Amino acid sequence: MSVIFKPEQEEHLFAPFGPTMGYYRMHEELVDQLNSKMSDRLGDYSDHLVGKVSQELAFDDEIIEIAQKGLGQFVGRYQAYSEYRNNLGGKQLDTKNNNYALQVVSGWFVRQFENEYNPLHIHTGSRLSCVGYLKLPEGIEDEWEEDYKDHHPANGHIQFASGTAAGYTCTNFIVKPQVGDFYVFPSQLFHCVYPFYTKGERRSFSMNMNFLEVPKEKSVDK
Ligand SMILES: [Fe+2]
Repeated sequence: MSVIFKPEQEEHLFAPFGPTMGYYRMHEELVDQLNSKMSDRLGDYSDHLVGKVSQELAFDDEIIEIAQKGLGQFVGRYQAYSEYRNNLGGKQLDTKNNNYALQVVSGWFVRQFENEYNPLHIHTGSRLSCVGYLKLPEGIEDEWEEDYKDHHPANGHIQFASGTAAGYTCTNFIVKPQVGDFYVFPSQLFHCVYPFYTKGERRSFSMNMNFLEVPKEKSVDK
């Protein structure tokens, strides 16, 4: 169905095009829990990924469950907002008639150290992706203070890019990682991570996910 805009205010500045980004501040316990589960015993996931980084370690079922529990509700709100926005106020999540669930297709820790980086890429095999920050090198704030004196700071930052540059169009979005910050975005949104030079580990995690909708009448209770 066509999307028809109906103004509801006298004045309204808005950006109806482009991908939805979601930000969530993770609880300290969730960050601690995820950090404590990171271990060399986890499978190496780097063959699936483009990162030029020291280690990319696959989530096991236990870690996936922790992430689902800690982040599922927020990703549901992201989904609801996106559906509302994409239909300009039309369709919203229908919890009366549907069950919703977050499916985590894959997840992994990214252990990035000085001089390492993650080239421009997208994620495939799911509709949603995310990044959460778990650890930063001690002293990186000093590097950032220096970098922010430049007109285009980027060290250790993640940059998202969408669409083609044009007048009144935003195509870039840069995020400064902070421990506890979590971002969700469409899987096919281009992004990259720049190198930093402070000694130590910048640890994040990512997941590929789908938000599932199943009509209640089709759900079978067992
Ligand atoms: Fe990525």
